[in-house]
Amino acid sequence: MRGRYAVHVVVFLKKTGLDRGEGKKKEEIKMIDKTCLSYWFPKIEAAGLPVPETRIVNMPNEAYEDVFNIFDGKPMTGKAEPFFDEIKAAADIIGYPCFLRTGQTSAKHGWDETCFLESSEQVPQHMVAIVEYSEMTGLVGLPCDIWAVRKLLPVNPFAICPGYGNMPICREFRLFVDGGVVRCWHPYWPLKALMNGGVGRITDDDVGSIFDRLSKEVVLLPDKDRLFYLASKAGLALGGSWSVDILETEEGWYLTDMAEADKSYHWEGCELGG
Ligand SMILES: Nc1ncnc2c1ncn2[C@@H]1O[C@H](COP(=O)(O)OP(=O)(O)O)[C@@H](O)[C@H]1O
Ligand SMILES: [Mg+2]
Repeated sequence: MRGRYAVHVVVFLKKTGLDRGEGKKKEEIKMIDKTCLSYWFPKIEAAGLPVPETRIVNMPNEAYEDVFNIFDGKPMTGKAEPFFDEIKAAADIIGYPCFLRTGQTSAKHGWDETCFLESSEQVPQHMVAIVEYSEMTGLVGLPCDIWAVRKLLPVNPFAICPGYGNMPICREFRLFVDGGVVRCWHPYWPLKALMNGGVGRITDDDVGSIFDRLSKEVVLLPDKDRLFYLASKAGLALGGSWSVDILETEEGWYLTDMAEADKSYHWEGCELGG
């Protein structure tokens, strides 16, 4: 099983004093995973940025391990039930449909079966799907110790991706900041992603014109300064280099996600992408 070790707070036990004959004293040094939502979200919310209402829930290891029974072809033992109940309680408060993700990912490319939660009955299945996706990501998988239930923002999708579980495509941007300074900004969706997601496969939408409306037309947006203001304010609140994802909704721009800049997908061809 991969990823089992991967907890939000990675604990290194550093032996100290051994070579100086001071006995076996151990010093715990905690390395915070800043990309995890549980790190950046409380700070961004406290700074007054527009964010979806969010409830954070910790996943105990025994619940995580119980989910793995499914992958081993066995039934779950029931040890994950209290955790599922916690997620359901959070979703009851937020209201259905709501948005479900871990501190690291939403597995959005499976939308209808992952992050888009319509009822409490879907909780176990959607969580298992997100854990499975997390396990398969990267070399060691993504941690699943932190979960977030979020209010579904009122969006006006430009298109739907049948290839990504009917994921809605909305106008969205990723800005890179160093502290309060905006370094660069890009549309969120590369044309290739829209094509792979099957935009235009079912409807008559022309994928090229949707891409243009999502990205190029932004120069005409009356409130685009707001994007820069929000990203800059987020960078100031956290300090350091970040990617900031900002989503257009019927209630204006919302900050939905952040990641340490060097861990974040950067628009192909941007010379600041490193
Ligand atoms: N609260 C929300 N309401 C509606 N759509 C959302 C919400 N949060 C995220 N999304 C949409 O889902 C996508 C994925 O969300 P995100 O939290 O960034 O997960 P990931 O890190 O896996 O991309 C976003 O790019 C946005 O389009
Ligand atoms: Mg994201």
